[in-house]
Amino acid sequence: MPGVLQGGSMLTLALPKGRVLRAVVPLLARAGANAEALLSDDRSLIREEPALGLRFLLLKPDDVPTYVEYGAADLGVCGRDVLMERSCDLYQPLDLGVGRCRMVVAGAIGRAAPTGVPRVATKYPRCAADYFARRGVQVDVVYVQGSVELAPLVGLADLIVDLVETGTTLAQNGLEVRDEIAAISSVLVANRASYRLKHDRVQRFIADLRPPHPAMQEGQGGRGAAGA
Ligand code: PRP
Repeated sequence: MPGVLQGGSMLTLALPKGRVLRAVVPLLARAGANAEALLSDDRSLIREEPALGLRFLLLKPDDVPTYVEYGAADLGVCGRDVLMERSCDLYQPLDLGVGRCRMVVAGAIGRAAPTGVPRVATKYPRCAADYFARRGVQVDVVYVQGSVELAPLVGLADLIVDLVETGTTLAQNGLEVRDEIAAISSVLVANRASYRLKHDRVQRFIADLRPPHPAMQEGQGGRGAAGA
């Protein structure tokens, strides 16, 4: 019976609050989790499902790999963008096929390249620096935490590196995609020790998450998602 604790150990999952949580909850419901309780607007950061042997930690998305890598959680749900930006020593046993978007370089529509070294605003400084370095293009990378699309509009930057899902934010701010850096989706990440020591329990949980169609793909993980 999916999700029911069968003599196995408890699993702790680190989940990102917000948009991705809403996409992931239907998958967790396949493993028996109470979707309503997970999405409820209460401020408790730990949601327990003792009968299922599951415990959920609700975190800022960027913190998920930290909790999993240090063993505070056995598993986590993490965007490939976060893994690309950070060096995390985690297994990535399953692409969840949700949270799909693209990491792109974008700039103002019709604006010519600057004569000097272009400035690039992003919340992904490492991805941006790697991308331009691979092309031998010198840039100044400026870190911003959000609303990245604002930067070219007010002279903070010539270009941005950011995520695009529907394209609405770019379009509404007069920006266009100049290049795609990577396809992004949410992946299940696993603490290396948990993956070995709780192997059967983790495998049962992964089997419960899988959809009845081939959209999800398995990929044994190494470090990060080699640039999510
Ligand atoms: C993300 C991303 C873009 C926007 C893209 O931002 O950084 O700004 O979504 O979505 P779209 O292509 O569907 O318009 P988010 O909403 O997470 O907020 P942020 O700008 O504060 O990072």
